[in-house]
Amino acid sequence: MSAEPLEIHLDDRDVAESLRRDVRVGLSAEAKWLPPKWFYDTRGSELFDEITRLPEYYPTRAERAVLAEHAAEIAESTGAKTLIELGSGSSEKTRLLLDAFTRRGGLGTFVPLDVSVSALRGSTAALAADYAGLRVRGIVGDFTRDLHRLPAGGRRLVIFLGGTIGNLLPAERAEFLTRMRAALEVGDWFLVGTDLVKDPSVIVPAYDDAAGVTAEFNRNVLRVLNRELGADFDPEAFDHVALWDPEREWIEMRLRAQRPMRVRVLDMAVDFAAGEQMRTEVSAKFRPEGIAAELAAAGLPAYRFWTDPDGLFGVTLARAD
Ligand code: SAH
Ligand code: TRP
Repeated sequence: MSAEPLEIHLDDRDVAESLRRDVRVGLSAEAKWLPPKWFYDTRGSELFDEITRLPEYYPTRAERAVLAEHAAEIAESTGAKTLIELGSGSSEKTRLLLDAFTRRGGLGTFVPLDVSVSALRGSTAALAADYAGLRVRGIVGDFTRDLHRLPAGGRRLVIFLGGTIGNLLPAERAEFLTRMRAALEVGDWFLVGTDLVKDPSVIVPAYDDAAGVTAEFNRNVLRVLNRELGADFDPEAFDHVALWDPEREWIEMRLRAQRPMRVRVLDMAVDFAAGEQMRTEVSAKFRPEGIAAELAAAGLPAYRFWTDPDGLFGVTLARAD
């Protein structure tokens, strides 16, 4: 079956407006910051895929190991008719679940949702070609806004992989989970991947690789602002910083100005001092009891929790009650 045309829940005007709002708020703050969803233009999605193949970036391999081990059980326990994937990217690991559902039978529709049109075009075409008989219905949307518009009907399994939930700040995460629960019916399922707290000597290199791919990915957000808003950032004049915050148990990505700069963006003149750092992303790491508590508080109690054999990454299957 060929993939259906992408369903657009985000039109260009919404995107442009929310980018302008984010940039105005973030760059006029005392401590400058930018929200992470703007990393993922075509180039950003390609760079992220490159990150997933880096030797230092263990989360993708570890999560894949969990899915490989437990896909059949996930298909069997959930008996899903519709599989929905938030922040789906290339949906590469999702193939393990699709394979298990194909063996079991009963899954009719796959609905990947992402802000990245280019990632969705690629994934929906490839999956529709490889899974004959599966309806593939891509949605261009924002998982912090558009959950109430997910397709209804049939037993649903929503998956949120890659540790992307950790890119939300704690308050955003709580709100996300509440909205997630509200979008589900009792008996629907939610599968979420979370990177686990471990020695920072393992975590930090995953976000600061030797080949400099993550640094390029981080700087890409400045290229997005230059192109979309006509800003005049010099991306090469910013260094990539990945810092472990032991209190909050997250890794924080920053861009550090090499020299004093005045950047024009929108109607603002934004001054950077030499060495000034701007936060571009956090990636929270979790403890099993914390994940279970957050899910339960949102009405999504955990049904199963698995890790890879090295205990690096956790995957929780939760059920809406
Ligand atoms: N699930 C894939 C990709 C993870 S990278 C994996 O596990 O490898 C995060 C993905 O989420 C990217 O594809 C990015 O485009 C998407 N994304 C980021 N913020 C988003 C948002 N607010 N709404 C929808 N998608 C988002
Ligand atoms: N969800 C991924 C993570 O937290 C996203 C990611 C990986 C990322 N590497 C990054 C985001 C570097 C910004 C910068 O692991």
